[in-house]
Amino acid sequence: MIRVLFVCLGNICRSPTAEGVFRHLLETRSLSDRIAADSAGTAAYHIGQPPDRRSQAAARRRHIDLSGQRARQVVMADFGRFDYLLAMDRENLANLLAICPPDAAHKVRLLLDFGPGGAGENVPDPYYGGGDGFETVLDLIEAATRGLLADIHAKHL
Ligand code: 4NP
Repeated sequence: MIRVLFVCLGNICRSPTAEGVFRHLLETRSLSDRIAADSAGTAAYHIGQPPDRRSQAAARRRHIDLSGQRARQVVMADFGRFDYLLAMDRENLANLLAICPPDAAHKVRLLLDFGPGGAGENVPDPYYGGGDGFETVLDLIEAATRGLLADIHAKHL
């Protein structure tokens, strides 16, 4: 099993969306028995909470159900258990690398490194912005998770 962990700050907007989008993609490609998706936050603010209602509504419009997810914080065991730990923005990346054991650092990347725009881009945090931010997040994540799946195919399957 290849395991992918999506990581943002609160684990209530961007990383749960990425988990849901990627899981949906795996289901449509019949890959759910070979690749697993999870998500977590670097901060503890929202532990146990479901995704933001605006994230849930935006995902539901694309037939993706986030309602069963609950926020959790990144734990050290994640660096051993997951094959990819994918940060939504450069701050999340820096926070992950600050606690990552050196032998796992190669697994820690920006999600948008797999997107069509090339490396180094952030998924912008929609939490304090308007409703459009949630659609932007979905568009960026849909494109990047297709690139991620291509990378997994090339390297692992
Ligand atoms: P996320 O968005 O990192 O995409 O889940 C945020 C959610 C909550 C907060 C910040 C970002 N917060 O500060 O409470």
